[in-house]
Amino acid sequence: MALRKIREIGDQILNQPCKEVKAITPRTMDLIDDMLDTMYEACGVGLAAPQVGVLKRIVVIDVGDGPILMINPKIIETSGEQTGSEGCLSVPGRNGQVTRPNYVKAIAYDENLEPYEIEGTELLARAICHELDHLDGKLYVDLVEGELMYNDVMEDEED
Ligand code: NI
Repeated sequence: MALRKIREIGDQILNQPCKEVKAITPRTMDLIDDMLDTMYEACGVGLAAPQVGVLKRIVVIDVGDGPILMINPKIIETSGEQTGSEGCLSVPGRNGQVTRPNYVKAIAYDENLEPYEIEGTELLARAICHELDHLDGKLYVDLVEGELMYNDVMEDEED
């Protein structure tokens, strides 16, 4: 198990667009394993490669149903709307209200660079939108409606 340092807001790497993954190397597999370890250790529901300082289009998500790996992901369909609290491991101790689609369909590649489709609603749809934004150098804080809040002590779930 290897944990990587989570980059925090203010670190310019979080504002840069990521590059497509063209091949899966042993280093890519190490990165994916470390991203999962780092996400679980931090009790997050998602983590994008730039959050650990790597500008590659790789995302991991787990909303409680097991790990999801998305390489070179792209949203191809959305519908509906949900407004709810969102947080980010790169913006520790904060949360804010963000409106996202309530349904998302995306295509992504797995660790063998095989394409697959994924659909999600509610938290999974939110997590996919949030993490894919990271790959384009975007943070949820720019989408917050009203003020960015401090977390309650009991709320420790962030993505
Ligand atoms: Ni985030």
